[in-house]
Amino acid sequence: MSALTELGKEIALCQQCEIAKQRTNAVPGEGAEDAEIMFIGEAPGWHEDQQGRPFVGPAGQYLDKLLALINLKRQQVYITNIVKTRPTGNRDPLPVEISNCRKWLEKQIEIIRPKMIVTLGRYSMEMFFPGKSISKIHGTFQKQDNVIYYAMYHPAAALHQQSLRQTIEADMLKIPQLLAQTKEITEAEPETQQLNMFEL
Ligand code: URA
Repeated sequence: MSALTELGKEIALCQQCEIAKQRTNAVPGEGAEDAEIMFIGEAPGWHEDQQGRPFVGPAGQYLDKLLALINLKRQQVYITNIVKTRPTGNRDPLPVEISNCRKWLEKQIEIIRPKMIVTLGRYSMEMFFPGKSISKIHGTFQKQDNVIYYAMYHPAAALHQQSLRQTIEADMLKIPQLLAQTKEITEAEPETQQLNMFEL
């Protein structure tokens, strides 16, 4: 069994939060174990809880379209959430749920070792860009220990707010160039990686 599958089973057994009692399925995440890019959303919704798979409802269908803009299919990346169980009634995740679930995300990152972590929405952004505002930093990145952290709006926000569609699509389109450019820099100048928070 792959390390991610094993971890998924462990996540499904977790009962640390009250919401575990109400779930149909835990939603650990899915995609390639050797993915270069990891997309991290907020928490499963109704559809995800039913199927045990991340981003399979309307926001997920839009995420698939965004991935297609850069010629990627969901099987080529890894998709997960900061919280692996649906919060009751799709409410926002509680701070205690986010902190209880953090260990699972850390283990997933350790196994996959992605080159790029893309945060989708405010909650996921807050974990990697604490204290920042999404309207200011979307479409920008920060590099740490050879991993690029890149902030995007949540696909559900773009579904509800037409004006964000162009923005989220433009931000998605920056990803291939960013990944390629950073690989070049890493290979060319391994000791001088000071690429903090600038826009492409
Ligand atoms: N929204 C999220 O943040 N994650 C999902 O898996 C689905 C919708």
